[in-house]
Amino acid sequence: MASVTQLGYLGLSVSDPDQWEQFAAHVLGMQPNGRDPDGSLFLRMDEYHHRIVVHPTGKNDLAYIGWEVATEAALEAMAEQLRQAGVAVTAGTSEEADARRVAGLIKFADPSGIPSEVFYGPLVMFDEPFHSPRPISGFKTGALGLGHFVVWVDDFDRSLHFYRELLGMRVSDFVKISPAPDVKVTVAFFHCNPRHHTIAFAKMPRTPRRLHHFMLQLQSLDDVGATYDLCQARDIPIVMKLGKHTNVHMVSFYLRTPSGFNVEYGWGAREVDDSTWQVQVHTAGSIWVHQGTL
Ligand SMILES: [Fe+2]
Repeated sequence: MASVTQLGYLGLSVSDPDQWEQFAAHVLGMQPNGRDPDGSLFLRMDEYHHRIVVHPTGKNDLAYIGWEVATEAALEAMAEQLRQAGVAVTAGTSEEADARRVAGLIKFADPSGIPSEVFYGPLVMFDEPFHSPRPISGFKTGALGLGHFVVWVDDFDRSLHFYRELLGMRVSDFVKISPAPDVKVTVAFFHCNPRHHTIAFAKMPRTPRRLHHFMLQLQSLDDVGATYDLCQARDIPIVMKLGKHTNVHMVSFYLRTPSGFNVEYGWGAREVDDSTWQVQVHTAGSIWVHQGTL
């Protein structure tokens, strides 16, 4: 089976890219890396030209997902696997590849209609090492990809089939949560490399946007603590206080972005070894509680 290897990039649609640049640089510690003529802002976390692109298209939601594979042959195998399953796949043009700073890509939609891309050949900048605008030790990325993200989907079973059977991801575990007194949902967590989860999703009615949060993993607990202090000092909304997750064992907190969705800022996740990993079902999201309401 063809499989994606990591979350290479995320595209976000935002209403205020200038506010986003300040937030990403001086709160999250990402490095702005210029804008395209259409106003798209590139944000670095590591040697990649960018890991997040902020597009001034105003929807304040996820714009697209960028899944990476290793080679052009792997990209073709992925395209074939999707087409065999009846998914409409289009080849990215050379202009589209240039805009994403990759060697080649394909485009399709996931079962909820979320624009999705698989690419190979990211532009990397080892000649200009990543330099955070903040005094943090940096982000844990590399082969683990940029981090993870959580979305609300329209059909849980169709999405599970799509991400497992068509993108080649593996289930890590399930967590049953109760985000409101009368609401119970199951969140499914998937990995495509040792990062415990790269995507997680649930079906939940009446959500204002697809994207619930994306997660940035720091190299040091001190990075997380210093940013926690900074958010409190600057009145940046913390929507969930520090806690530790049951399944991934990450210590993290959640802060609100200028677009209304959240960022999880964390450290210390355990990793998955597919030769020994056992899927579990968790009855709660946190071991010691992330106080607050997401
Ligand atoms: Fe998360």
